[in-house]
Amino acid sequence: MKAIIVTEQALGTTGMKLVERPEPQAAINDVIVRIHASGFVQTELEWPSSWTDRNDRDRTPSIPGHELAGVVTALGYGTTGLSVGQRVFGLADWHRDGTLAEYLAIEARNLAPLPGDVDFTVGASLPISGLTAFQGLFEHGRLRAGQSVIAHGAAGAVGSMVTQLAREAGAYVIGTGRAADRQTALDFGAQEYVALDSDTLEDVGSVDLVFDVIGGDIGKRSARLIRAGGTLVSVVGPSEVRPDNGRAIDFVVESDRAQLTEIVQRVRDGRLRTNIGTISTLDEAIATFNAPKRRAGKTVIRVRA
Ligand SMILES: NC(=O)c1ccc[n+]([C@@H]2O[C@H](COP(=O)([O-])OP(=O)(O)OC[C@H]3O[C@@H](n4cnc5c(N)ncnc54)[C@H](OP(=O)(O)O)[C@@H]3O)[C@@H](O)[C@H]2O)c1
Repeated sequence: MKAIIVTEQALGTTGMKLVERPEPQAAINDVIVRIHASGFVQTELEWPSSWTDRNDRDRTPSIPGHELAGVVTALGYGTTGLSVGQRVFGLADWHRDGTLAEYLAIEARNLAPLPGDVDFTVGASLPISGLTAFQGLFEHGRLRAGQSVIAHGAAGAVGSMVTQLAREAGAYVIGTGRAADRQTALDFGAQEYVALDSDTLEDVGSVDLVFDVIGGDIGKRSARLIRAGGTLVSVVGPSEVRPDNGRAIDFVVESDRAQLTEIVQRVRDGRLRTNIGTISTLDEAIATFNAPKRRAGKTVIRVRA
């Protein structure tokens, strides 16, 4: 099969190569998926799990990519709940070979059925950004109607999902990001916008929840805006400043079939809009990831026409 591999962390996406690799075998509880579309998060080559197995041993050459949509072609021993020929989408294990390939071995529990009227490219755009937003807001952030939320990077992949899900839950959403992204964030439903390069974040006053996808100084300053009983949710590592009266949660997204099903249902209902910025083929993927121009929104690779 065709697959993109990486061997050297220091090279980042410039070290990617499109090669022929053996098709994966299904282990216990796995399925094999013929991938139609794959999602790649630009920062994932900085994650240790891209390079090592769960025992911290080198696993290069590794295949990056963790989001997928495709069709089940085989079942491993003991696998239940999915069948050959079924359309699926989901989130691949951090420490195993990933989705920038024609086939993937993945535990069935990491997948959900993809309804027939949802395009594979849309399916592949949802798992990381949709689940991260969902889990951060509702499990870790315990968001309730009437609360106020700062959605950092509100025009980005995760932030646009945070903005929409929080609005639908009845929250008041203040989006942030670059000045040029103001209208995009407002279109996703933000009621206010703070351009981090020209406005003052502190002018928004205190809030119940901050969803941080930026970290650094923005993370530290955000911690100080949490009102009593509120939560700082971060997906970019622990903030050096913890809220005085509230909680701080750092988490890594997990796959969840029920939540994937809920997210894709919202997309079908028109309640949630995915944020695909670029679609490329597997043959052109490496050039796309290395292009100097900024790519807004999610980049999805169409693996199969
Ligand atoms: N822990 C987890 O489970 C988890 C899950 C998903 C994502 N993440 C992490 O979350 C981060 C965001 O992911 P994403 O896919 O949403 O990325 P993305 O699509 O690039 O969105 C980030 C947004 O924030 C903006 N932004 C970043 N730094 C900024 C700054 N200093 N000032 C103003 N705007 C800024 C970006 O603008 P520009 O494009 O102009 O920079 C972009 O609009 C990544 O670091 C990713 O690794 C973690």
